[in-house]
Amino acid sequence: MTISAPSLSECAAWKSLETHYEEVQNLHLRKLFADDPARGERLTVEALGLYLDYSKNRITDETFKLLLELAEETDLRARIDAMFRGDKINLTENRAVLHVALRAPKGASILVDGENVVPQVHAVLDKMVDFSNRVRCGEWLGHTSQRIRNVINIGIGGSDLGPVMAYEALKFYSDRNITFRFVSNVDGTDLAEATRDLDPAETLFIISSKTFTTSETMTNAHSARDWLLEGLGGDTKAVAKHFVAVSTNATKVSEFGIDTGNMFEFWDWVGGRYSMDSAIGLSTMLAIGSEYFLAMLDGFHQMDEHFRTAPFEQNLPVLLGLLTIWYTDFFNAQTVAILPYEQYLKRFPAYLQQLTMESSGKHVTLNGTHVDYDTGPIYWGEPGTNGQHSFYQLIHQGTRLIPCDFIAFGQPLNPLGRHHDMLLANVFAQAETLAFGKTSEQVQAEGTADWLVPHRVFEGNRPSNTILLERLTPETLGKLIALYEHSVFTQGAIWNIDSFDQWGVELGKAMAQRITPELESQTEPELNHDSSTNCLIRCYRKLKKN
Ligand code: F6P
Repeated sequence: MTISAPSLSECAAWKSLETHYEEVQNLHLRKLFADDPARGERLTVEALGLYLDYSKNRITDETFKLLLELAEETDLRARIDAMFRGDKINLTENRAVLHVALRAPKGASILVDGENVVPQVHAVLDKMVDFSNRVRCGEWLGHTSQRIRNVINIGIGGSDLGPVMAYEALKFYSDRNITFRFVSNVDGTDLAEATRDLDPAETLFIISSKTFTTSETMTNAHSARDWLLEGLGGDTKAVAKHFVAVSTNATKVSEFGIDTGNMFEFWDWVGGRYSMDSAIGLSTMLAIGSEYFLAMLDGFHQMDEHFRTAPFEQNLPVLLGLLTIWYTDFFNAQTVAILPYEQYLKRFPAYLQQLTMESSGKHVTLNGTHVDYDTGPIYWGEPGTNGQHSFYQLIHQGTRLIPCDFIAFGQPLNPLGRHHDMLLANVFAQAETLAFGKTSEQVQAEGTADWLVPHRVFEGNRPSNTILLERLTPETLGKLIALYEHSVFTQGAIWNIDSFDQWGVELGKAMAQRITPELESQTEPELNHDSSTNCLIRCYRKLKKN
């Protein structure tokens, strides 16, 4: 299939932005604020209880206008509508992209190939609610009639990162009588450490895999099955009580030995990295209970509706997406730092890495031509204030421009003395210092020796967004995740890439499958790789023997 969209760099708004960038690239945030003292009130949006301050970005009103024109010219609105309508916008896989259907209310109608998928979504949700209630209240018992006290989710990529992040983010709301662990790496240490102190009789495994073919997950699932059977005397009937599956592939689930009655389904129109609110979130529901899980879905849905209906100049995901394009393609920024000032969001940057980089790591447009502009920046980050004592130095005084997203909450979940005010003081101080820096005059005025002055100057003009919410709840977490999902959508739509495939990852999977037998072979294998890979394989085989 070919798409006849004009090349992005040929768009009138893009060309205007190129010219405009030449004019404003050296404009300092100090001047922008001095010229417009109300800027910090003006360049903000408040919606759904989320306050976005984007005033500390290197934009003028003209930049803003041109970015909005770019969104119009690249038909962002039509692309949003196409996603919500269930069109097969994932062209290379010929699939609809409907994570928004996962949180649509019961009465809604979203068609895929003429069929309304919302009732299926709610049927699975109902099944999840029933199952999680039974486990949480002790009605679902293990093979030896013991209560389930440990839940281990086995999955990787989207079948792991979302569940881990959500568990950590919502731990405050979780049932502390159940231990939750997450195994993803095929490195045996991951499973060994997750199980070493647990009693198999009290342990439930959730095998989460969209395809049920991912080698890491299947290898871990088989080893987990061995561990369980060994601990429970080898009776294979135990599997039914200790293993459930989340997948789109009933045949493979059944081949593994899991009763498909204990399978929680999702669909090919849910991308792995967009699946944490599908049945892939079963561990989340087990941890926080169905009411909180449904509240999280409601948070997602509110942001979906905002994205679908709000005018672009007030549209939170569109604004974040446009700003990312501005820095990536005009300032040549290579990365975006995600800096949550909330300990419970410690895995949020890691989660966003897959969401953003698997989605936007593309070098061709939808019609297969090589892009002549940059696409996905590298997302990274750590929670504050820890990051301040680690990598912030480079953000403040290094040579690279690193746009930052600060995320913080008005109310702490664990109020403790002055802690929260101190935490928030750091958010505001960092954003202020990054923007305004410290001039040589200011440094000199402090009596600093001349030779030391350059070292202590902060140039400032480092852009950031600050996102403030009242409190971290399941609902606000849903809003926050959907905010970034749709920001990625905005970027991908404008870059005209397929944000929903991941062929690069697929190639790596296939290559590993070819090499594994060469490492396991009892006889010297015939190797037909490049000389480096051949040598590394031989070297490993020798090390392995010693
Ligand atoms: O990392 C690549 C990927 O295909 C992701 O998109 C997906 O989330 C992950 O592998 C796991 O795949 P599955 O859920 O099919 O095991």
